[in-house]
Amino acid sequence: RKVIFSGIQPTGVPHLGNYLGALRQWVKLQDEAAPDTTLLYSIVDLHAITVKQDAKQLAQWRKEMLASLQAVGLRSDRSILFYQSSVPQHAELMWILSCNASMGYLGRMTQWKSKLALPDSASPLDSSPSNKSALKLGLFSYPVLQAADILLYNTTHVPVGEDQAQHLEFARELAISFNHTHAPQAEAPLLVPPTTILSPAKRVMSLSNPAKKMSKSDADVKSRILISDSKEEIRRKLRSALTDSIEGITYDRENRPGVSNLVNLIYYMDESVGASPEMLAQDMQGLSMKALKEKAVETVEDRIRDVRERYEYYMRLPPSELGELAEGGGQRAQDIAKGTMKRVRTAMGMA
Ligand code: TYM
Repeated sequence: RKVIFSGIQPTGVPHLGNYLGALRQWVKLQDEAAPDTTLLYSIVDLHAITVKQDAKQLAQWRKEMLASLQAVGLRSDRSILFYQSSVPQHAELMWILSCNASMGYLGRMTQWKSKLALPDSASPLDSSPSNKSALKLGLFSYPVLQAADILLYNTTHVPVGEDQAQHLEFARELAISFNHTHAPQAEAPLLVPPTTILSPAKRVMSLSNPAKKMSKSDADVKSRILISDSKEEIRRKLRSALTDSIEGITYDRENRPGVSNLVNLIYYMDESVGASPEMLAQDMQGLSMKALKEKAVETVEDRIRDVRERYEYYMRLPPSELGELAEGGGQRAQDIAKGTMKRVRTAMGMA
């Protein structure tokens, strides 16, 4: 039986990277799932607090993320939608896994290393992490919590963007070593090593700096398009997207990253436009940069309009109605999590 799990941090309305790299795939998996497949999608607020958060802001972002998940087409009657912090077993399993996780392996994680290397105000950390002691333990052990999220539900498949692939490899190896230590003779694995599902659009780049991925934490708001953006906002951001002054449109991620990112956006927002980004670029080769951007505006708007309208609808609901939905999800998630914790505790002599 398949169990699908994924998570997203409540750190702002999702952008097109989140949408194409993850959320749209989550919906597809939901809509195509066999009846006995379990799907869980979590708003990972415990991960969000690995960097400093303002309480009011976090409360708002949690709500916006719940509205966003519904807006993109996840249905609470089919998928279990819940806040990570409403299921205490995540933190419990994380502690147990921490006692099996290697510091050396964690220290090699690129996300951690990138935070270590960021000395300036572009860092999402509050205090400048130019010295290691300003960095928080939670940020270092972030991948252990992520592993707990996944392993708690006997997850078989995890749909994510490419930036999460390393964390998933860590989760898989942690499960295998944990099983080896605590249940070497067991017929079925105590913790199920998960498989990664990468979306076709696994890495959407920033509009203002196409050498970087599109990111919620980028200080430049024009670097990303949100699923709640109006057509005017979409146009404003795409018009200012960094491209180049080479004539004509070609697909060349290495030498023309900005143009190729726009071609990708058009292609992945609406795959009916061509057989591949390369073919699409060929069809558009005669377009000016302005026309390419306008085509991107129309395509993105066409595909995002419904999502935006649904987002506005959910944000207008009384908070209690939206909240109830997550409560129901939290209960269902806990029922599964309790079963796993019972097996883990028994295997470890703590039952
Ligand atoms: P987060 O909140 O940064 O991103 C959510 C999802 O969006 C994908 N994504 C992208 N895909 C393509 N191009 C981009 N520019 C882009 N930016 C983001 C991410 O790959 C992700 O799938 N650590 C995770 C959250 C998490 C999680 C988990 C995921 C916590 N526990 C368990 C899977 C399983 C994160 O910070 O995602």
